[in-house]
Amino acid sequence: MTEEILKRRTFAIVSHPDAGKTTITEKFLWYGKVIREAGHVRAKANKKFTTSDWMKIEQQRGISVSSSVLSFPYQGCQINLVDTPGHQDFSEDTYRALTAVDSVLVLLDAAKGVEPQTIKLMEVCSLRKCPVTVFINKMDRDALDPVALMDEVERILGLKCSPMTMPIGNGKFFQGVYSFASDNVHLFNPEVPEGEMRKVDGLNDPRLDEWFHPRYLAEFREQAELVHGAMEPFDHAKYLRGELSPVYFGSGINNFGVKHLLDSFVAYAPSPMARQAEQRMVEATEPNFTGFVFKIQANTDPKHRDRIAFMRVCSGKFLRGAKVLHCRTGRQVRLAAPSTFLANDKTVVDEAYAGDIIGIHDPGLYNISDTISESENLKFLGIPDFAPEHFSRVYLEDPLKSKQLTQGLKQLSEEGATQLFAPVNSPIPVLGVVGVLQFDVIKFRLEEEYNARCRLEAAPIHVARWVSGDPVTVQEFKSQNNHDLAMDKGGNLVYLCPNEYRLTLMEKNFPKIVFSKFHIGE
Ligand code: G4P
Repeated sequence: MTEEILKRRTFAIVSHPDAGKTTITEKFLWYGKVIREAGHVRAKANKKFTTSDWMKIEQQRGISVSSSVLSFPYQGCQINLVDTPGHQDFSEDTYRALTAVDSVLVLLDAAKGVEPQTIKLMEVCSLRKCPVTVFINKMDRDALDPVALMDEVERILGLKCSPMTMPIGNGKFFQGVYSFASDNVHLFNPEVPEGEMRKVDGLNDPRLDEWFHPRYLAEFREQAELVHGAMEPFDHAKYLRGELSPVYFGSGINNFGVKHLLDSFVAYAPSPMARQAEQRMVEATEPNFTGFVFKIQANTDPKHRDRIAFMRVCSGKFLRGAKVLHCRTGRQVRLAAPSTFLANDKTVVDEAYAGDIIGIHDPGLYNISDTISESENLKFLGIPDFAPEHFSRVYLEDPLKSKQLTQGLKQLSEEGATQLFAPVNSPIPVLGVVGVLQFDVIKFRLEEEYNARCRLEAAPIHVARWVSGDPVTVQEFKSQNNHDLAMDKGGNLVYLCPNEYRLTLMEKNFPKIVFSKFHIGE
């Protein structure tokens, strides 16, 4: 069992839309021999098949039907790539996915550098010091200076960079990359995947002058010497502690630098790491099975109301059909047909190990953050609630259905589909979501599943912040801001702030209060 666990590499790709996540994922799957030609995933996602009414919404919006994890073997390892939905389907699920992985791959567009969605996602990653690898993509396009790019990563994302490769030229004049560790160059040739590898003898090897254009070579030598002197060499232990990030350059679409990235990733990325539970630290290689739910997908089959709960296995080995403890309720449950996923194909699994993500049939029992364990009563420290960015007030269309609405909102918020706020001085509930598409889903589900037809109206709220700190100061803050306060589902005080200016002012006026973007539930 330990051997199986140590083989697992569970990670997610963090990027801004269009940086090349789909392209790189396809290449990874191609190297994993899961697909025969890159392009398969997209072709498949574009097929107009409908497996549920709920997915119809996704299709009407022209977005892909999201799968949650892609698993494939590579060089003796079992890779679990956890999906982080982007574009319009960006939602709290995207954030939650990051709590289920052991490391992340940050993907940047070389022309654009660090972009907003990457910053948001990395804030979540920094809550747990998780090891980060950086790939700078699209070097075949006009790119920013590589040193400036790494400087941005350090300044904006707070990641200390250790360049593993350095590019020679970019755009039309992209000629290849030099690898510091192995002292070789890969010559870029769009016709030859991964280019041609040649061994050299240091940066001043005269053969480099024969192979590369003098202008780009001179620039490269200068930059390579600069980073070699100024930046830290790669240190595996520091990487595993989340203190140093290896940086690679390449071009996903040309399959250049991708294999090197994947090989290094498999060699360095952590196997499943220990997880903190309220009671104790749980090591991945412990024999007893434990796991937690990080995502719930509703209505995958229109014939059944049932949902799928996605669980990250944290320790031990899970066997199909085994009876396990649902820790929050104390109930014994049988996980009858657990499944793993490849793109949209679902396969029933007989066993799963720490690091794996499995989908379990959910008759309405599971909430986000629930712990499941073989026998011991444990509670993994909660998945945070993330400050929503879009807000709506909920108005019921049929006053006789108020009980249904209350029940629907309660269940949907427990399931993690939306955040529910009860304003302190108004009876109209406020919904908060991270991705605006979630509102359509909530409205649809309230009507379909709870028979509560309602109208959602945008609320003039800019951001939400959980409020904590010195009780006297909090009281003073409350008395001044009563009209902008609400309680979340757990009864915690939340400031629903109307604009950025007001938030800055409050942070200045109440320095003893913490205005938090995240809230870890009890
Ligand atoms: P995403 O999942 O992160 O949103 O990005 P995706 O892989 O879909 O890539 C976004 C666009 O960038 C695509 O072009 C893709 O072909 C292109 N791309 C990805 N990697 C590279 C690269 O290394 N070099 C260059 N030049 N382009 C790259 P598109 O025109 O939007 O789509 P398509 O018509 O190619 O499918």
